[in-house]
Amino acid sequence: MEKVAIVTGSSSGIGFETALALARDGYYTYATMRDTKKGNKILEVAKKENLKIEVLHLDVDKEGTIKSSIKKILDDKKRVDVLVNNAGYGLFGCLEDLSIEDLKSQFETNFFGLIKTIQSVLPIMRKQRSGIIVNVSSVAGRIGFPASPAYISSKFALEGLSESMRFELEPFGIKTVIIEPGVIKTNFFTSLKQSTRIDSAYKDITEKVMKGLTMMAEMGTPPQEVARTIIKAVNTENPLPRYPVGNDAIMFLEAKKNKTDIEFENYIKKELYS
Ligand SMILES: NC(=O)c1ccc[n+]([C@@H]2O[C@H](COP(=O)([O-])OP(=O)(O)OC[C@H]3O[C@@H](n4cnc5c(N)ncnc54)[C@H](OP(=O)(O)O)[C@@H]3O)[C@@H](O)[C@H]2O)c1
Repeated sequence: MEKVAIVTGSSSGIGFETALALARDGYYTYATMRDTKKGNKILEVAKKENLKIEVLHLDVDKEGTIKSSIKKILDDKKRVDVLVNNAGYGLFGCLEDLSIEDLKSQFETNFFGLIKTIQSVLPIMRKQRSGIIVNVSSVAGRIGFPASPAYISSKFALEGLSESMRFELEPFGIKTVIIEPGVIKTNFFTSLKQSTRIDSAYKDITEKVMKGLTMMAEMGTPPQEVARTIIKAVNTENPLPRYPVGNDAIMFLEAKKNKTDIEFENYIKKELYS
């Protein structure tokens, strides 16, 4: 029986590498993206390596494109074994500088878009009594820091959602895992949306955090490592709830576990922007 995988946000970075890794692992892989013109790159690799990859239009902000893609997949393949919810972006800026519209857009893509995609595959996974949902969160889904409260809260929300889903879906044989990358070398930082207030009272801290993140991004973990971790989780009989990726992620999460809240705040200040 042919195994079927769906990846959202496959045009670049983690989604691109994960779609390829799943196809190399034998999955018929739907590399979904909001702009299918960007699909040529993955299709070229697929052709060269003889991989089963199909590009489909799916914009997580547009429910119609989620429904039509999932319908096509079910009509063609009648099953879904793996759903990787990867599509997302970062909104940068301190809370007072962000408009409520920008905050809602951040949640629409990183949180509600993912929920709509999950809800559209769950009926089939329940019927199969199998499947795995991989939610790409971030180390920022576990730790707060300044100048990114929109992104951080969208990923914290995703972590809570995923923890609940594990309990609800386990009786139906459906697994849920959270992937927590640290800083990964992708288009993420060049695609960041930023508040444009030039009179910002938070200019100083915003610039310091951006400098710290830019420096970390230069030494970032390659996206292939995230893809490898996703393959490991997907192929494990009883996957863990969470998989951090990258030395930085492991370092921050260890510090959070071992320090008091105040000690951890001081540690973040020192590591990120002192
Ligand atoms: N890079 C990091 O340091 C890092 C760290 C932790 C977590 N993450 C998470 O990893 C995931 C992938 O990011 P990345 O690092 O691979 O960055 P990336 O290279 O910028 O990729 C983001 C992908 O999401 C897609 N996307 C954005 N909005 C979308 C929408 N409304 N519908 C469908 N697709 C959409 C982008 O499509 P377009 O090409 O059309 O823009 C792109 O394919 C994100 O959820 C991000 O939060 C990244």
